[in-house]
Amino acid sequence: MVDVTSFFRPHLKKVRPYVPGKPIAEVQRELGYVGEILKLASNENVLGPSPLALEAIKKELPNIWLYPADSVYYLKKELAELHGVPVESIVVGNGAVEVIYLLAQATLNPGDEIIMGQPAFMIYEIMAQMHDATRIAIGHPDYRNDLKAFAEHVSDRTKIAWIDNPNNPTGSYCSKTEVLEFIEQVDDRCLVVIDEAYQHFVDHPDPCDGIELFKNGHENIITLRTFSKVIGLAGIRCGYGIMHPELALMLDTLRINFSVNSLAQVAVLAAIKDKEHMVKSRQLVLDGREYLYGQFDQLGLSYNETQGNYIWVDFGYDAKGISEFLLHEGVIIRPGWIFGSPTCARVSIGNQHQNEIFIEKLKNALKTSVGKSKQLSV
Ligand SMILES: Cc1ncc(COP(=O)(O)O)c(C=O)c1O
Repeated sequence: MVDVTSFFRPHLKKVRPYVPGKPIAEVQRELGYVGEILKLASNENVLGPSPLALEAIKKELPNIWLYPADSVYYLKKELAELHGVPVESIVVGNGAVEVIYLLAQATLNPGDEIIMGQPAFMIYEIMAQMHDATRIAIGHPDYRNDLKAFAEHVSDRTKIAWIDNPNNPTGSYCSKTEVLEFIEQVDDRCLVVIDEAYQHFVDHPDPCDGIELFKNGHENIITLRTFSKVIGLAGIRCGYGIMHPELALMLDTLRINFSVNSLAQVAVLAAIKDKEHMVKSRQLVLDGREYLYGQFDQLGLSYNETQGNYIWVDFGYDAKGISEFLLHEGVIIRPGWIFGSPTCARVSIGNQHQNEIFIEKLKNALKTSVGKSKQLSV
């Protein structure tokens, strides 16, 4: 029998597979659950997509026998106008995650270092593992991206500093002042990725816009945005990055041909014009935050104030039992052990009805002894 694993690049054995939020159909299938299932695990837009996106998709359907426009011309043109950057600075991908993959592919050599928060969006870590780079993971007692500590760890081996802003999973945020200070300290010693997947939910008094910093001359900044969150098109897979044109050209050269499908291109073009849908989606999240903060306060739970559409709760003991209890009750949340924080969980903010069901079931979970295991299960 052939040992196919002997053909693998040896360092790939260390790659930790990405653990996605459980899909609704999987919970139905695995648990035989027949009631209403709430997916509060992947920070999607519970309002769904804009009706304009759905119309555009229907109109495009008869054309799907044709390959899509690989140049993503019309969408790039629209984004260039929206942000006041040249088309040549934009890379559109099959989700922002494709742009992350391309960045890593284009830059990381074995032995290079990347800097990221602990916890942070786990794909950054997976990229380091895939390319045999070293991850410098920087924790903070308040679960935030500690940019002062990031700056202290920049070395001549650092290639990328990843700042998810807001941080996923914790929702903590770095202000423009903090980011600027970091950028000035780093100068041009490494690339700085500012991942603004949740930018539309930010209501911070000193908001940071990576694209503005880039336009103001910080050419080592790459800003990531996605259509999976406020725009409500996670399933169609589309996101983008704005960066130095030479880097963009390299990423586009490495990109899989036609990775941005034709339905995604028309849907996104239509959806970004639906300002009303965006405003409603944002408001739903801002209202949901306040409701959930109030409920968590009443329950005596410790949580991070969030700038995203999700909240990071710290139960103070192994929370795996809580997530499992909720799963059996049809509520899917994101357990913290996935991010290396077993006492925590990340909950996406739903609509009022969903938030109320979640709280009701959470109260049941807390009443049982299910979560209070002394032993950490990571
Ligand atoms: C911080 C962060 N960056 C990037 C992404 C990737 O988004 P996309 O769905 O566009 O691949 C996500 C998705 O959850 C995210 O949380």
